[in-house]
Amino acid sequence: MILVTGATGNVGRHVVDGLVAQGRDVRALTRSPETAGLPDGVDVVRGDHADVALLEKCLDGVESVFLVWPFPTTEDASAVVETIARYARRVVLLSSIAVRDDVEEQTDPIGALHAELERPIERSGLEWCFLRPGGFAVNALAWAPEIRADGVVRDIFGAASMPLIHERDIATVAVRALTEDGHAGSKYVLTGAEVLSYAEYARTIGEVIGRPVRWEEISREAAWRKKAAQGLPPEFIDVMLDGYASLVDDPAPATTTFEEVAGVPPATFREWAADHADDFR
Ligand SMILES: NC(=O)c1ccc[n+]([C@@H]2O[C@H](COP(=O)([O-])OP(=O)(O)OC[C@H]3O[C@@H](n4cnc5c(N)ncnc54)[C@H](OP(=O)(O)O)[C@@H]3O)[C@@H](O)[C@H]2O)c1
Repeated sequence: MILVTGATGNVGRHVVDGLVAQGRDVRALTRSPETAGLPDGVDVVRGDHADVALLEKCLDGVESVFLVWPFPTTEDASAVVETIARYARRVVLLSSIAVRDDVEEQTDPIGALHAELERPIERSGLEWCFLRPGGFAVNALAWAPEIRADGVVRDIFGAASMPLIHERDIATVAVRALTEDGHAGSKYVLTGAEVLSYAEYARTIGEVIGRPVRWEEISREAAWRKKAAQGLPPEFIDVMLDGYASLVDDPAPATTTFEEVAGVPPATFREWAADHADDFR
């Protein structure tokens, strides 16, 4: 049995689909089983994996766990890891490219959060694999209301460039790490293959949906207010904006890790946009 946390989320949903396609026994954790919309045959259980008592009820018979941490703090993370380690043998963590191995202390709060999850896992005795993706292509869904309304994305740092990754590609690597030997102790830094700017990503969505989409640069203050209104935790917004600013002059490089693990190239952003075209129409 493989337990998938974050099973209704961007990556988790594809992890469930990938495991079901292989005929694996899957248990999916969600706070709302009635609206989860997961495939038939999946053991959908109500739970919140930040709640150790609820988590423990889901771990009987579980051999491997896909662990997503959608929470803004790592409170209870050690207890969650210890609980998983009492039942399971293997864990695959959805971590982040922001974690740095070359520093004593993480300076980026997103890196710090994920490092605080990775550390207890490394000490747990579990067989572990860390997926450290860069920016998700699915973040572009935040532009969907404006693209649907008038085809203008109003945001900051349109020239910031990075290789966005399709959420399904992250799940492909997760499924391999959950089901195959040979991934233990790996830290996979996963990105797409093309380094494009935000403005180019927005334009590509327009080309895919057959309606022009253009980028309109706004002030930092306006961008801050917009991200707060989208529900991003205020403590992360400045960090995010500083991160985007640095990508204008110093684009994030692409890695080849996805292709090395999966044996095929990662999806292009155009393919991602085609998969999500209805969200933008
Ligand atoms: N976005 C990026 O560019 C990026 C880049 C690198 C790493 N990451 C990391 O990827 C992870 C997020 O992955 P994702 O996008 O697949 O996840 P997600 O879609 O944001 O969330 C996954 C699931 O977690 C549950 N959830 C969300 N908030 C919760 C809460 N407060 N309490 C309990 N459950 C909650 C929800 O399931 P239910 O409602 O069904 O319970 C949700 O469907 C984060 O750790 C993030 O730091 C993201």
